[in-house]
Amino acid sequence: MDYYKITGGKKLKGEVKISGAKNAALPIIVASLLADGETVLCNVPNLKDVFTMLKVIECLGAETEYDAEKNILKIKTNKIKKAEIPYELVKTMRASVYVMGPMLARLGFADVSLPGGCAIGERPIDIHLAGFESLGAEIGIERGYVIAKAKKLKGTRFIMRKVSVGATINIMMAAVMADGETILENCAMEPDVVDCANFLMKMGAKIEGAGSEKIIIQGVKKLNPIHYTIMPDRIEAGTYLLAGAITRGDVTVTNVISEHVSALCSALSEIGFQIRRGKDWIRVLPGKKLRGIYVKTLPYPGFPTDLQAPIMALMTTLPGISVVNETIFENRFTHVGELRRMGAKIEVEGNMAIVHGGTQLSAAPVMMSDLRAGASLVLAALAAKGTTEIRRIYHSDRGYEKLSEKLSSLGADIKREKGGGY
Ligand code: UD1
Repeated sequence: MDYYKITGGKKLKGEVKISGAKNAALPIIVASLLADGETVLCNVPNLKDVFTMLKVIECLGAETEYDAEKNILKIKTNKIKKAEIPYELVKTMRASVYVMGPMLARLGFADVSLPGGCAIGERPIDIHLAGFESLGAEIGIERGYVIAKAKKLKGTRFIMRKVSVGATINIMMAAVMADGETILENCAMEPDVVDCANFLMKMGAKIEGAGSEKIIIQGVKKLNPIHYTIMPDRIEAGTYLLAGAITRGDVTVTNVISEHVSALCSALSEIGFQIRRGKDWIRVLPGKKLRGIYVKTLPYPGFPTDLQAPIMALMTTLPGISVVNETIFENRFTHVGELRRMGAKIEVEGNMAIVHGGTQLSAAPVMMSDLRAGASLVLAALAAKGTTEIRRIYHSDRGYEKLSEKLSSLGADIKREKGGGY
């Protein structure tokens, strides 16, 4: 298995172009199933999760062709058929459950393995299923699979008991071809929801309010295949800004929607970094006096849970104490033990982590436990003294396109090596 060898201490400098958003690309890929014909998607990141989603839709008869150089994906959906989405795919990637919404809408049937728990918490899909039931689907669980059936979905009013990105998108995808009007309340307002809604609207769906707490959908009979460009990845952008910050370098991210990264930019300014930004770029520069910070993860537009582990790496290097309050997932501190191996002083109390800063991190062999925990280890290694070996990097392959190439282009000393066991 491949691993990263990172020698820390280099100040990162320069520009890095941000890829298409993984969390928008995944639902948009499955949403293409709603139309008959050829969908063409641009700015699709070359990521393991994208390939897993292609396998998911191929189970249903979709034909796919991906140009990794140009990041263009073509999906043909003329031969969609009923099929089961196996455990092997859903356990590799929970977002596979996104296929349920489009399957129900197009086939009136879904047979999808239930995801189990995962590294960052229990992560149930009860809200997705309650939304489908509210649209008139019958839901059963058999042999570990969700079997959902509906002759014809019917418009409904559904209030989500908790803000969920996945449930908002999945139920929205199911409702676009239902009979009549659907009103969804307490919706997630993440840009990924908006990008997926924009895709559906371009296909002919009638959706109002995506990006707010209330989404109103008028069902339509048919959607058309289209060409669409996936929005930039705000979490990837945030990770490179943090790479600039942790090395006290000068990094500019380009091809971003800078508004999507506002919560992180505010946090970096509060710490004392200088932030300059235009509509589609953001630059981070060192400030005169840095200090610790309190960060609470919240649904968008609050501070994203996906940048919680990455910013914690930065916190270890700041003067004084920083505090993280993780309110989205119950077990999202698996990076703490690994950061401690690099010398970080972090206490965890329930969903709070107290970081005693001012640490010169030092290299140690460490392992990624999930995608964003992995990013935090890469950041820590960039600032650490010595050469850090990071294993289980298949986690970061899920969500960061050309990670080592992009970091190298900013001046990082990072090598992707083959072998090395575990
Ligand atoms: C998505 C993102 C993930 C991000 C997360 C929160 C994708 C592919 N993944 O995950 O990167 O960290 O949003 O921004 O887009 N919940 C339930 N029942 C449900 C659904 C969710 O209790 O049916 C809970 C979850 O356990 C969690 C919270 O709701 O505590 C928010 O989860 P959700 O927004 O659904 O996250 P995902 O869509 O899985």
